[in-house]
Amino acid sequence: MRILVTGGTGYIGSHTCVELITKGHEVVIVDNLYNSNIDVLDKIEAITGVKPKFYEVDILDKEGLDRVFKENDFDAIIHFAGYKAVGESCVIPLTYYKNNISGSINLYECMAAHHVDNIVFSSSATVYGDNFEVPFKEEYGQGDTTNPYGTTKKFNEIILEDFCKANKDISAVSLRYFNPIGAHPSGLLGEDPKGIPNNLVPYIAKVATGELDHLNVFGDDYDTIDGTGVRDYIHVVDLAKAHVKAIEYAQRHKGAEVINVGSGKGYSVLEVLHAYEKACGKKLAYEVKDRRPGDIAVSYADTKKAKELLDFEVELDIEDMCRDSYNFMIKSQKNEG
Ligand code: NAD
Ligand code: UD1
Repeated sequence: MRILVTGGTGYIGSHTCVELITKGHEVVIVDNLYNSNIDVLDKIEAITGVKPKFYEVDILDKEGLDRVFKENDFDAIIHFAGYKAVGESCVIPLTYYKNNISGSINLYECMAAHHVDNIVFSSSATVYGDNFEVPFKEEYGQGDTTNPYGTTKKFNEIILEDFCKANKDISAVSLRYFNPIGAHPSGLLGEDPKGIPNNLVPYIAKVATGELDHLNVFGDDYDTIDGTGVRDYIHVVDLAKAHVKAIEYAQRHKGAEVINVGSGKGYSVLEVLHAYEKACGKKLAYEVKDRRPGDIAVSYADTKKAKELLDFEVELDIEDMCRDSYNFMIKSQKNEG
């Protein structure tokens, strides 16, 4: 298949391009490089031997996007492009709605105009909100989102459902990611956010490299194994493989589906910290702080639907995730130095 990957130079997108190319698909990337770097294309080439075709286009630029569709005859789309910082989305909500909703609608309009019928969309476990019991099941539907970022994911799922109802040829799969972490085992691709990270593993990674001196653990009084928050972490390479299966599924299916992509297992903050200590071979300092507002105690996926529809199951565990994350950090530091 010839596949348009929006946001393809980003963290999950770049890993997905590697898996798509490895499976023999042709990849065309659209990204405005807002949160990624052009050198990712060389890294994809170094891993796969193929440099994907690239357009530096903003999905808010409808004419630019339309040109990409005119110049390429796509079989399918994987749509990653969007803003993803929860805290920031509360400060500049309109910017988030514009990018993640208006940008997506531009893309869906181009799909319809150019008769591209298959799409996989990056949704998030955040759409469950704090309304439901674990494990989160797709049949629960959507909960109350607690921030504009989460609401943009919820709206996109609804828009795609309505789009499919009105266009019987369209197939749309919204993948609800749990917590993607880790990096490509080559150490060439990974996530190294600028500034102080908001998310757990990028933060721990910077403690491990000495850029930050300790982890703040947000609460140790939850009703969990050790009182700290429990999440379902998934290796980004496993997540990338789920996209290959999802786009192949979209091609043989019609209508809208939402599918969880997680491991089905939960790990506490301290369990992740200890797994990372093992990966980097040293003790990592932490201090217990108040709970972070908006956090839930426990989140993990029911993975049955992914198994049934996509034949997808994770292959990598928390030790692989921490090892590959640390390897990426060390390699990136060497390259910078
Ligand atoms: P990322 O920021 O690394 O990648 C997103 C890419 O989209 C970036 O390369 C960015 O430059 C690009 N982009 C943003 N706005 C654009 C626009 N208007 N036009 C063109 N390109 C644009 O993020 P990621 O972690 O790879 O996430 C990919 C998708 O998955 C996002 O939609 C995100 O919301 C979703 N998601 C991520 C997580 C996570 O924990 N990383 C969890 C659930 C869902
Ligand atoms: C975050 C996003 C969520 C997204 C999900 C997927 C926020 C608030 N939420 O959720 O929308 O769908 O990622 O990747 O960003 N923790 C610490 N110290 C830290 C950072 C985190 O103790 O410095 C704890 C948190 O309290 C939580 C766990 O680690 O219990 C995981 O946190 P994080 O990595 O931010 O992910 P989520 O909160 O699950």
